[in-house]
Amino acid sequence: MSLLPVKQLLASETTGHTITVKGWVRTKRESKNAIFIAINDGSTIHNLQAVAEPGQFSEETIRLVTTGACVAVTGTLVESMGSGQKVEVKATDIHIYGPADPDKFPLQPKKHSMEFLREIAHLRPRTNTFAAVLRIRHALAFAVHNYFNDNGFFYLHTPIITASDAEGAGEMFRVTTLDLNKLPRTDEGDIDYKQDFFGRETNLTVSGQLEGELGALALSKIYTFGPTFRAENSNTTRHLAEFWMIEPEMAFYELEDNMNLAEDFVKYVIGYALTHCADDLAFLENRLIDEEKSKPQAERSPMPLLEKLSFVLNNNFQRLTYTEAIDILLQSKPHKEKKFQYPVGWGIDLQSEHERFLVEKHFKKPVILTNYPREIKSFYMKQDDVDESAPGPTVRAMDVLFPGIGEIIGGSQREDNYEKLLARVEEVGIDPASIWWFLETRQFGSAPHSGFGLGFERLVLFVTGMGNIRDVIPFPRTPKSAEF
Ligand code: 4AD
Ligand code: MG
Repeated sequence: MSLLPVKQLLASETTGHTITVKGWVRTKRESKNAIFIAINDGSTIHNLQAVAEPGQFSEETIRLVTTGACVAVTGTLVESMGSGQKVEVKATDIHIYGPADPDKFPLQPKKHSMEFLREIAHLRPRTNTFAAVLRIRHALAFAVHNYFNDNGFFYLHTPIITASDAEGAGEMFRVTTLDLNKLPRTDEGDIDYKQDFFGRETNLTVSGQLEGELGALALSKIYTFGPTFRAENSNTTRHLAEFWMIEPEMAFYELEDNMNLAEDFVKYVIGYALTHCADDLAFLENRLIDEEKSKPQAERSPMPLLEKLSFVLNNNFQRLTYTEAIDILLQSKPHKEKKFQYPVGWGIDLQSEHERFLVEKHFKKPVILTNYPREIKSFYMKQDDVDESAPGPTVRAMDVLFPGIGEIIGGSQREDNYEKLLARVEEVGIDPASIWWFLETRQFGSAPHSGFGLGFERLVLFVTGMGNIRDVIPFPRTPKSAEF
């Protein structure tokens, strides 16, 4: 007996030998002379069909073979008579590892809503859709490491517990071992963090960038890929409180090099998924087409999933400055017809509706926006020389915007001038003493450098064509939701 995954069994070149397949029953179909059991072990979207003769097994065994039960079936691998699969297993032995009472098991072979499946996130990986998403998620993560390893980057593990707010947005989860019912106080009546575990205030990281910069200013090219936490109360289809971010950081890269890397990197990982996840992507494409049938034409995706992914690979991303983008928005129909919910003008933080107009309606391809107003971007971004065409000071920022997603990447060239950085830190109200180590890298061997952050779940969202970010991470964390 040999135990092979279903994926390998289905690809068998020879038949006639005895095999064992272990997995979960997707469906059982009974006819007069045979019982057909579809078994899936998660190695592939496809099931292996086991065929059992009713007389050969006890009624009890057959009764326990139900959707959701975990079984081991041993038998001869034979060519399949039915359409849909090349081979099947003619069962000689059926072992039930774990039955699943059909009156209670919530996953029945029918369509379940995504909302319902979120409530049973402990079981949803056993659905075709989620298993496909999880396999693609794996492939994308693997591709990320492949890409950077092949291109001379070092994987740097930046801390999850930090004392700094890298983005300066104050959306942090506090880390403490203090007894919240008996908080120690200073003489002034403030909470005495000196008595806390680290002897100071700490939080979960919102970005590994600041530490990533320290790595790049020694190893030249590094990347981080880790969990990231943001306590922003955003109940959207694009935000998670816990997500994974990939942050490359490169010494001697200017904004232009940064853009080139971002585009090349994203295309590589999408291309990797296209080659390595063809079956799962085909399944998700059909699922999407099915789902969109109930939508009005205008709301349907302009392209099927695979075509959309290939389109991104085969076209250059449109590059333009924030100032140029604002001009386009001011000239746009939705602006003139007052269709945008948020006002447009130089200096605004672009809203999702603006980003999506540029990407989906105007350019109809991914866009990289650069040189944003200084006031709406983070303190660490390199200040531009005065640009006469812009109404105010700008920084060397770049955001990559994707169809259906909006911002997928945010990055910049970094301010490498000590005086300018210090002035900006003070201006935005950060205590320089709290990031003395970051500032010191600009005093000792400072170098031009750049980097960006890719939201991993937003990438998975794009590649799988799923509609909600909660459905591309195994166990989503969102406001008021941390079950499982
Ligand atoms: O634009 P952000 O905030 O940039 C940074 O954190 C920089 N430190 C990155 C860098 O330059 N090293 O976040 C980067 C990306 C966003 O473009 C988005 O894709 C994703 O992270 N992101 C989120 N994804 C899911 N849920 C959230 N709440 C997210 N916030 C940001
Ligand atoms: Mg951003």
